[in-house]
Amino acid sequence: MNKNKSDVIKSFKKKIQLLKKHNKLYFIDDNPEISDREYDIFKNELVELENQNNFLKELNLLEKIIGSPPSNKFIKIKHLSPMLSLSNAFDENDMRDFLKKVDNFLNLKNETIQLFSEPKIDGISATLIYEKGILTKGLSRGDGVTGEDILNNLKTIKTIPRKFEGPNIPHLLEVRCEIYISKKDFIKLKSNFANPRNAAGGSLRQKNPNETKKIPLRYFAYGTGEINPDFFSSQSEFLEKIKRWGFLVNPLSKTVKGINEIEKQHEDLDNLRSSLDYDIDGLVYKVNDFNLQKRLGNTSNSPRWAIAYKFSAEKAITKIKEIVIQVGRTGAITPVAKVEPVTVGGVVVSNATLHNEDEIQRKDIRVGDTIQIQRAGDVIPQVVSVNIEKRDKKSKKFVFPKKCLCGALTKKEVSKNTKKEDAVRRCFRGYDCSYTAREKLKHLVSKESLNIEGLGKRVIDQFWDLRIVKEPSDIFNLDFGKIKSLEGWGTLSINNLKASIEKSRQINLSKFIYSLGIRHIGQENAKILAGFFVTIKEFSKLFESNKRDQILTSLVELDGIGSTQINSVESFFSKEKNKKITINLINELKINNYEINNKDGKFSQKKLMFTGGFENMSRSEAKLIAENNGGKVLGSISKKLDFLVVGNSKPTKKKIDQARKLNIKIISENEWKRILNS
Ligand code: IVH
Repeated sequence: MNKNKSDVIKSFKKKIQLLKKHNKLYFIDDNPEISDREYDIFKNELVELENQNNFLKELNLLEKIIGSPPSNKFIKIKHLSPMLSLSNAFDENDMRDFLKKVDNFLNLKNETIQLFSEPKIDGISATLIYEKGILTKGLSRGDGVTGEDILNNLKTIKTIPRKFEGPNIPHLLEVRCEIYISKKDFIKLKSNFANPRNAAGGSLRQKNPNETKKIPLRYFAYGTGEINPDFFSSQSEFLEKIKRWGFLVNPLSKTVKGINEIEKQHEDLDNLRSSLDYDIDGLVYKVNDFNLQKRLGNTSNSPRWAIAYKFSAEKAITKIKEIVIQVGRTGAITPVAKVEPVTVGGVVVSNATLHNEDEIQRKDIRVGDTIQIQRAGDVIPQVVSVNIEKRDKKSKKFVFPKKCLCGALTKKEVSKNTKKEDAVRRCFRGYDCSYTAREKLKHLVSKESLNIEGLGKRVIDQFWDLRIVKEPSDIFNLDFGKIKSLEGWGTLSINNLKASIEKSRQINLSKFIYSLGIRHIGQENAKILAGFFVTIKEFSKLFESNKRDQILTSLVELDGIGSTQINSVESFFSKEKNKKITINLINELKINNYEINNKDGKFSQKKLMFTGGFENMSRSEAKLIAENNGGKVLGSISKKLDFLVVGNSKPTKKKIDQARKLNIKIISENEWKRILNS
């Protein structure tokens, strides 16, 4: 065998070992170290290597571990409307909060809102699109905005209607559903998947529907996507109708009202849980009325009208080997317990969060302690309690490190408003702290920011350690020659990375602002700031110290932006390093101007402010309506204001007087209603 060939085989075998490791982490441990995308890229690279070198194919190594080589190259299709996720509730208080938020938003007073309760099936979501009653598309969730065309795989599920008929059916109907494997079928399968959910996911991801067919998938329909024309008035009516059209809906769903019924249903289903032939991990409570759902709308990631009420977490006993600290992108220091590996709810856990210094003090958690941990959903497991009786007599109280991993002293901030000390200790060096800087980079490439596929957390770690990236703009000037020589990187994965980096150069102003990772500037605040600055040119004036003060003062007028956010922006841009890093990044990007929501809306280009309460609408809803109609909502009176909308309940007289003086048009509650209905 010539030298070159034997080298290729050696390196290929090494890669196969690595793939095996990732397979185990993903399929057995349910604890992947790389993203699905990184995994796919890596796997495709091996397939490509085999295709290029027949002698590798003959070894039959890939075939053995991945079966028929799936290419996972499904066609990507944009969802008609995004597939969002749900926010979670873990106890009665969380559910009370949810009810309160709904009531406040809708300004309901003495009414108890009707909810629809459904089991939360622990499977994989998919969406089915019917045109004139015929199933034309079937997509996976994907990243929520774009899904993959998995129609042929979905068609292996015989109970999914290919068509439905009736004298009166919508032109377009999108039915969202959860695909799952029954517990009995899962046991029969004897697969090496850790749980039925992973097996369902694995089956749906098969390129070849004949492979999917081998794993018996089932489904429950639970929701709507696009419907044309509007057809249903409530969730209960929707499910009843589609059931008549032949869809399978969960029989344990029902309407409920008030916290007692919510708790009772939660308890009843928790008791039933083990007897069901499918996994459920909680209940989903939805506002039943579709009109109210529409009014409530969504936040950035989840609807305001629904919540997942999870069953209590799974618990396990283990021992703390070591307590280490981690540094977050805002410099927050989080203590983490490294524990003896233990299985909690089918997943091997070796880390548990200890939240912050106060929590360690309060629970007197020490190295060597026997502890109970719990794991709820995908979040990092928590330490619930310490068994003091099992404590070694020689054990010592844990002394929380006062220094960051970079060596700098950390501090707890004192709130200017409440004068209270923050529970979290922080490193304040920002990009000067290499641990904070690395986390900032991870934030920058994440889905909500630049969204660079193929550049996940693990890759950033790798590139950071090798000094391939040191600051954001380096991402756009990578040394691909160096990367190519690294384990796990080949032509295909490099080309994919190049393409996704190029794609990420085009970005909206609000995403760009969010991606900077300024403390207290989350997605919603970034949107408000983008609406204020409109162009990157205006935003860049923040870099000029002589203009900054004036700009920051005018930010006060924005509804939603307060002194906490303003101070944070000020402290970010007063650091030379942050300014330089931001300018370097801007030079690599093409930042789109902020798009006014609705150019033809009733309040297009207008600035509004509200005072007083409305009869049937909360301030939050009024604000959302104004914004959806192209308006901008300010939080204080100024010459820039076009309208002051005055609600009947306790308006501020001073604001009305100020508005009159400045000749600002005043709109009464009745006029507001009339405009909205016009
Ligand atoms: S409603 C905006 N209802 O849970 C999302 N989801 O965490 C509305 N799921 O992606 C989702 N059973 O895959 C809804 N009865 C149910 C569900 C359910 C399972 C899954 C679904 C969704 C995820 C949200």
